[in-house]
Order: sequence, then C-alpha cells, then structure tokens
Amino acid sequence: MTVRIGVIGTGAIGRDHARRINQVLSGGTITALSDVNRASAEAVRADIAPDATVFDTGENLIASPDVDAVLVTSWGATHQQYVLAAIAAGKPCFCEKPLATTAEGAKRIVDAEVAHGTRLVQVGFMRRYDEGYVALKAALAQTGAPIMVHAAHRNPSVPEAYTTPMAIHDTLIHEIDVFRWLLDDDYVSARVTFPRSCARTHAKLRDPQIVTLVTAKGVVINTEIFVNCHYGYDIQCEVVGEDGVASLPEPMAIKMRLNASLQNPILTDWKDRFVASYDVELQDFLKAAAQGTASGPTSWDGYMAAVASDACVQAQESEGQAIAIAHPDRPALYAQG
Ligand code: NAI
Repeated sequence: MTVRIGVIGTGAIGRDHARRINQVLSGGTITALSDVNRASAEAVRADIAPDATVFDTGENLIASPDVDAVLVTSWGATHQQYVLAAIAAGKPCFCEKPLATTAEGAKRIVDAEVAHGTRLVQVGFMRRYDEGYVALKAALAQTGAPIMVHAAHRNPSVPEAYTTPMAIHDTLIHEIDVFRWLLDDDYVSARVTFPRSCARTHAKLRDPQIVTLVTAKGVVINTEIFVNCHYGYDIQCEVVGEDGVASLPEPMAIKMRLNASLQNPILTDWKDRFVASYDVELQDFLKAAAQGTASGPTSWDGYMAAVASDACVQAQESEGQAIAIAHPDRPALYAQG
C-alpha cells in the first residue's frame, strides 16, 4: 500500500520531509499540502510534489479523502490543533517536536489518543533513530547499570531572537527525550546552574548553562548547553555505568595529517548531524501508517518531554534550586513506549 500523505507547514523541515517521502523513502506519496503562507505550499508542489493538492487550511487537508496520514511540520504553537484533528479523523499523524507548547496541551493529545484506543501519533524525536544513539543504548548492556551521564549540546551561534528559555524548549528538548529512552527512566528533578555568560551572547540569553536532571532510578545527568560555542555543532554524551563507560560515537569525518597537525573536522550545521535519522524515523512512520497506526516516540513521550521542559524553565528562573518533576502513571496504550 502507498500511504497518501498530507503535509501541514511547508517551511524548512516540512519541505525536507516531503522531499524524503517523494524522493528517498518507499511506501508513501505526498498528495496534499497546506501552509498559512500559501506560496510556500505552492513552491513545494512545483518542486517536489506536482500531483499534490494545496489546501487552504490544515483542517481541510486532514478531512480530505485523498489523505491517509498527516505530517505536522508547522510552527510549534500550531501543532496541538492539527494533531487533535488528525486523531479525531482517525488518521496516523507524524508531529515534529514539540507535540504541544504546554504540558496541558500535550496531555490533551494523550487523552484523545487513549480515548481513540490505538496509537496514531509519532513525535519527531529523531535522535532515537540515530545509529550512534542506537549503538550507545546497546552498549549500556555491557557497561552495567547507569550511574551518571555527562552530556553537551553546543551550537556555534544562535540568532538574536533566541532567548534563555529557548535553550530548553528548542535545544535541550532533544536530550530530555533521548535520555529517557536511553536510560529507560523518568525524571524526578531539574536544577540549572549558570556559569558566567560568554562574551558572544546577548542581553536576553544566559549562555552557557548546565542542566542537572535526576531520574527515578537515581541517575544524575549533567548537560551543558552552550549555543555560542563558536567552534562547531557538537553533541557529546558519555554514560558512566557500574562496569564501564560508554560514549556516543563522533560523526564520521576524515582524519588528516596536515601542516604538522592531526586534524578531525567538526560539523558546524545542526542539519547535518542527524540527517540520516530523519530518513529512518519517517520510514518507520510510513510502515506503521500503512497499518493505520503509529510507532516510535509516542504522545506520552511528547507529554513527558513537555513536563520536564516546563520544570527546567522553572529551574532556570529559580537558579540553583531543584524543581520536582512529576511522572504520572503511564496509560496502558504506551506500555512499550
Ligand atoms: P519554518 O518556519 O521554516 O516552517 C514552518 C512553516 O509552517 C512555515 O512555512 C509557516 O508559514 C507554516 N505555518 C505556520 N503556522 C501555520 C499554520 N497554522 N498552519 C499551516 N502552516 C503554518 O520552521 P521549521 O524549521 O520548518 O520548523 C517547523 C517545526 O519543526 C517546528 O516545530 C520545529 O521545532 C520543528 N523542527 C524539528 C527539527 C528536529 O530536529 N526534529 C528540526 C527543525 C524543525
């Protein structure tokens, strides 16, 4: 079966996902596009999906009989309304992060999916599909029960519009999800420490910052977020276990002996770092959507990420204080998630 896909939000990632589905992956075809900026949807139709219909609203796209499944790749604040509409229509839905901009919004989606009775939603936490993280998770079986995680999320620079809470909502959100999955654990508290700000930051961004998350099993995770690090885009993760230490592999890069030095290039653009994992996550979505369901990261994961994010932002505001993170009982629908 070829799954007929409608894309809501045809900006940077919506266009790229449409390209993947029509040109790289198998089992799906783009039949519908919608964007508040209609010209953007028209451009994607012209360049990537000539057979697609452009719809005036996301709701009309979801209701179309030519759409079997939906990609929600619009701005974060609009995700909730479209995911709820897709669930109401009983159509599988891939939603880019965040699932919703508030924990309450994400919970509404969980409740709607639970009421539907089967999974329909996959959240775009693509790191779970990265081969480095997959290998790291497998290695934890040898290094023994995890005790500590040392991690870093570094960007060369960010625009002026990027402010202190965005370090959580836009940046740490990926670590928040991937560490829950990596450790098979939930968070119980968050604390944020600010070193002195670096010279390259601006008035509305305290950078860098260190977020300490503690899990229900007692693992302490220290993540440095440094988004004006200047030298490159660099993701680090080291898990210290009872019997050994496992580290996330570096991206493949040519090692050069040159000018009396040993050199290993470092990426500079985040888009290149997890590019392969976007293909794998969407192929997984197409496979499940062909069966009328969803797999991979769940609405529950999106909800738990939103709960932890809110606590981290609160921890930023009460610098140095530990903020408790609730982790309510997981509905049976998400038992495997
Ligand atoms: P973008 O700004 O390039 O594109 C968003 C598009 O959505 C724009 O064309 C805009 O006109 C459209 N839009 C806004 N409101 C809409 C509405 N109500 N209905 C229909 N269309 C609407 O943004 P980008 O970078 O493509 O990001 C989109 C989403 O994907 C964000 O939530 C972002 O966090 C997420 N994202 C996730 C990444 C990941 O690594 N998983 C990477 C990049 C983005």
